[in-house]
Amino acid sequence: MIKIRLYQPSDRQRVFKIAADTAFFGDEVEHFMEDRSLFCDAFCAYYTDLEPHHAWVAEEDSTVVGYLLGCVDTAQQHKVIRKHILPGLIKRIAMGKYQIGRLTLHYGYGLFMAAIYQKNVSADIARYPAHFHLNIASVNRHRGIGKSLLEVFLDQISHEGVKGVHLKTTSENKAACALYEKFHFNIIDKKTTSLWRYWLHRDIENRCYGLMLNLPKEL
Ligand SMILES: CC(C)(COP(=O)(O)OP(=O)(O)OC[C@H]1O[C@@H](n2cnc3c(N)ncnc32)[C@H](O)[C@@H]1OP(=O)(O)O)[C@@H](O)C(=O)NCCC(=O)NCCS
Repeated sequence: MIKIRLYQPSDRQRVFKIAADTAFFGDEVEHFMEDRSLFCDAFCAYYTDLEPHHAWVAEEDSTVVGYLLGCVDTAQQHKVIRKHILPGLIKRIAMGKYQIGRLTLHYGYGLFMAAIYQKNVSADIARYPAHFHLNIASVNRHRGIGKSLLEVFLDQISHEGVKGVHLKTTSENKAACALYEKFHFNIIDKKTTSLWRYWLHRDIENRCYGLMLNLPKEL
């Protein structure tokens, strides 16, 4: 039976494994990055190490099979990442602690160009201060786990008085888009991107979805 519970530090390795196993549109990160620990340190460590009280996991037979990593204050997160995550990451890159090959360089260059040419999607974080990442191990998809994790997180942050929540995905993450639309998330920003052309041989759409919570009750 699936159990949804808050993240515990002992889940870290398993959560990182699922993150790396699902990073490429539900498939393994090694499609675009040689070293999965670089990906996890850059994109997951904040949530597990610095905001674990907004991280949820789905467990079956004592094994974590999916997670939702949440953040309720995206503006504050940016500051914390600059201060506590980036310096360590840059130091480890400079010391050669990660395997960085052709794929990572290609991906990094694409990210850099997307930032320069403003191809990234974004949310108005005053309106949608929270965000999250949701991933389920491939053999456990379509069992209602993503839906359950999302429900518990939205319930948690609604009770905390959070005004709105957003997430970033792509048109390629079809199941994810269907799930978010089912929860009445709306697309609040979208842009065509060539970031994945090297791998998919076509452009796709970056999407940012938003959902307002705690709307004032009508009188
Ligand atoms: C997207 C993801 C998190 C959904 O989790 P899940 O546990 O498989 O989804 P659920 O079983 O809870 O399904 C909930 C709803 O999502 C939609 N959905 C799920 N899988 C779908 C699929 N393969 N195709 C279309 N819609 C799908 C449906 O609306 C579904 O409701 P329904 O069962 O009543 O039709 C999961 O498929 C996943 O991890 N995918 C790969 C990584 C990814 O894309 N993560 C999101 C990044 S933003």
